[in-house]
Amino acid sequence: MNTDPLQHVEWYHNKFRHTYHPDAFPEMIHDHRVLCTLIRHYDCRTVCEIGTWNGDTALMLWTYPLVKRLKCYDIHKDLGVDFKQENHKLRAKEEYGKMFANTYVELVFADTMKMTRGCEQHDLVLIDACHEESNVLNDYELAKSWNPKVIAFHDYHNGNEGVDKVIDYLIQGGIKILQFKESCVVAIQI
Ligand SMILES: C[S@@+](CC[C@H](N)C(=O)[O-])C[C@H]1O[C@@H](n2cnc3c(N)ncnc32)[C@H](O)[C@@H]1O
Repeated sequence: MNTDPLQHVEWYHNKFRHTYHPDAFPEMIHDHRVLCTLIRHYDCRTVCEIGTWNGDTALMLWTYPLVKRLKCYDIHKDLGVDFKQENHKLRAKEEYGKMFANTYVELVFADTMKMTRGCEQHDLVLIDACHEESNVLNDYELAKSWNPKVIAFHDYHNGNEGVDKVIDYLIQGGIKILQFKESCVVAIQI
């Protein structure tokens, strides 16, 4: 696998980049490219994002043509608002309406610390909720129980001790971690 995301994802360059809000963090755009690379390389049709916040990444996943089902979890109910209302996002939705018309999106408000394991199936799970060690470990076990092809973590080596500790345990346990240039997304092929 080519781990330089800039070598991939023509779709991203051609179709999506200009729909970002001008204030979007460049790092975030790069992380999105990494996610597209993983989706494409591992042929992930069903994706789950744990921790959705205002839906920035969710919208990108939603509009990526390969993704046919997207499930997003967040503990806070009010965070879904931006997902629907920010102007740039509405523009993106209109512009790419045909592309994602076949994508089923579900936004679920739940505490992943309280969820029963093993009840779902997703090809790719992105872990990006609470970055405390116990939460990241819980979300990793939850994600594994969903029989994914790939688990991705956001915010590795980005000032989040909990994420770093969990990834370091996994490395010490012999698990191969996929890392990407200039990105704080890391991934594990299951
Ligand atoms: C870093 S933000 C997510 C950013 C988002 N993935 C993005 O790329 O735009 C973390 C989110 O995780 C949510 N969260 C924190 N703890 C959670 C939990 N136990 N269960 C579900 N969501 C949680 C927070 O409410 C917050 O919206």
